[in-house]
Amino acid sequence: MLSTPSSIMANQIIKMPIPFLLVAKVVSVFLILCKTSATTETEALLNWKESLPQQSILDTWMIPSNSSSKASNPCQWRGISRNDAGSVVEINLAYTGLNGTIENLDFSSFPNLLRLDLKLNNLNGSIPPGIGVLKKLQFLDLSTNNLNSTLPPSLANLTEVYELDVSRNYITGGLDPSFFPREDSKIGLRSIKNFLMQDTMVTTSTNILTSCFML
Ligand SMILES: *[C@@H]1O[C@H](CO)[C@@H](O)[C@H](O)[C@H]1NC(C)=O
Ligand SMILES: *[C@@H]1O[C@H](CO)[C@@H](O)[C@H](O)[C@H]1NC(C)=O
Ligand SMILES: *[C@@H]1O[C@H](CO)[C@@H](O)[C@H](O)[C@H]1NC(C)=O
Ligand SMILES: *[C@@H]1O[C@H](CO)[C@@H](O)[C@H](O)[C@H]1NC(C)=O
Ligand SMILES: *[C@@H]1O[C@H](CO)[C@@H](O)[C@H](O)[C@H]1NC(C)=O
Repeated sequence: MLSTPSSIMANQIIKMPIPFLLVAKVVSVFLILCKTSATTETEALLNWKESLPQQSILDTWMIPSNSSSKASNPCQWRGISRNDAGSVVEINLAYTGLNGTIENLDFSSFPNLLRLDLKLNNLNGSIPPGIGVLKKLQFLDLSTNNLNSTLPPSLANLTEVYELDVSRNYITGGLDPSFFPREDSKIGLRSIKNFLMQDTMVTTSTNILTSCFML
């Protein structure tokens, strides 16, 4: 059957477009992942932007009304890095002069976030307790802002964080004992290497500092 000239012809006709189809498929999968599979994350970022004062550094954070508009593809938003599946792994708006608060950033929308770097900006308000849902977070830098809350106890859930910097803020209160894991506890800053809080008003008791050194 395969030896008849007509089926060879048919084979050739079918084979020709395959490379093109593959390329088209790869491109569309990439776009679909960026636009739809990460919709919750994209929406959460847009909602946060909406809650902030109007500022040009977030101009790229727009849903393209029009696929020809390259700058606003959610995969190319300023300060946002995504993994191959289109999910946000890093938010880095350090040194941008960002104004506003992180109180309206819906942390629960970012299950894969590894790094949150907002150092040296004009952020005020609190460090919201919701930040504790970032189970995979490894790096959290909120230093040199005007944050004025306490450190929420939920930070104890950031078991993967190795660097936590809240220095140079108006942070008050103490360090929750749950930050420092005991042998049998599932929460606590189990991976912490650097916990920086210079020039804040956080009170640290000798007991806690001792357990800090024991980490
Ligand atoms: C933040 O607000 C200040 C004061 O209103 C303004 O001068 C500055 O340009 C703003 N920053 C950004 C990034 O828009
Ligand atoms: C898409 O963008 C192009 C260039 O910016 C513009 O000319 C066109 O009108 C837009 N199309 C739609 C449907 O918005
Ligand atoms: C942050 O600062 C701005 C400008 O000073 C002020 O309008 C706003 O109420 C402050 N927000 C919080 C949560 O403190
Ligand atoms: C933080 O600052 C805001 C605005 O100035 C104020 O309303 C709030 O009470 C302050 N919070 C703390 C914990 O000091
Ligand atoms: C830590 O996460 C668990 C669920 O994984 C939750 O039940 C608990 O309340 C969280 N702890 C804090 C201090 O938010």
